[in-house]
Amino acid sequence: MKKIAVLTSGGDAPGMNAAVRAVVRTAIYNGMEVYGVYQGYKGMVEGNIKKLEVGDVGNIINRGGTFLSSARLPEFANPEIRKGAIENLKKLGIEGLVVIGGDGSYRGAMALSNEMDIKTIGVPGTIDNDICGTDFTIGFDTALNTIIDAIDKVRDTASSHDRTFIIEVMGRNAGDLALMAGIAGGSESIIIPEKEESLDEVMSRVRRAEERGKKHSIIILAEGVMSAQELAKIMKEQYNEDVKYTILGHIQRGGAPSAMDRVLASRLGNYAVQLLISGNSGRAVGIQNNRLVSTKFEDVFEDTHSVDLTMYEVSKQLSI
Ligand code: F6P
Repeated sequence: MKKIAVLTSGGDAPGMNAAVRAVVRTAIYNGMEVYGVYQGYKGMVEGNIKKLEVGDVGNIINRGGTFLSSARLPEFANPEIRKGAIENLKKLGIEGLVVIGGDGSYRGAMALSNEMDIKTIGVPGTIDNDICGTDFTIGFDTALNTIIDAIDKVRDTASSHDRTFIIEVMGRNAGDLALMAGIAGGSESIIIPEKEESLDEVMSRVRRAEERGKKHSIIILAEGVMSAQELAKIMKEQYNEDVKYTILGHIQRGGAPSAMDRVLASRLGNYAVQLLISGNSGRAVGIQNNRLVSTKFEDVFEDTHSVDLTMYEVSKQLSI
């Protein structure tokens, strides 16, 4: 294999730059040429593809976002749109492609690997940690740390004013960010899509805390359940509880990647290129029990991501 390309797609995640750097440098180390596809699949369709050298990925391991830019392109599900994109890669003689992104990006990558004789490998990059075949996705650890920082700050003001706060965190349909942030942030309640929790129970935790003299409470709410605004309204209407809420939003996607994310991205990016070199295609790389693994795209989709509910139990016992 002499020429490969790399792109980042879907929601950006801290550590994507480190992954691109790893792909580029591993490829060059192994005597290959590397091309960067700008703006994800959109750039592939539009032919926004440029050759990258070692220096092009210097000074980016420490930066959030993705210097290749990213985009969401639902139209990529259309085989006609993909045809043009494939042609753009072929014109440049590209034989391998590394796609760094989440679930939607993997679907595009799987379609490409079935349709073209360009080998394709996926690298999990999303703050949501919702991809099967890997224990952790690139960006999750950084986002978690950003959330913890925010929880600590909200706690300062909540305890100063004896208030109950709801903090809404991202994660799409997965509760990983909320669950781990709730534990690490010492929250009173965690509400995630994977575990039904009655509001009576949430309220009784708030009241119990009040009874033992603790006048503030933090409730971590995963966006996949409902919005913080909705929950605050319900708590007022049904329980006459005045709560403040904070929606962390896109700050969770930004910032310098944590050391864990930089290392994970470097290992996975390197491994993706190693797989291409050894002739693999149609697979996603991941980390399981600290070992690098790869899984067929079909199997990634067959499985359903599940959060570790033993942690939910831990959180309950610790927030009595
Ligand atoms: O998948 C990452 C993510 O940040 C989700 O947590 C969130 O639901 C979504 O992307 C937001 O997407 P957008 O940036 O397109 O609004």
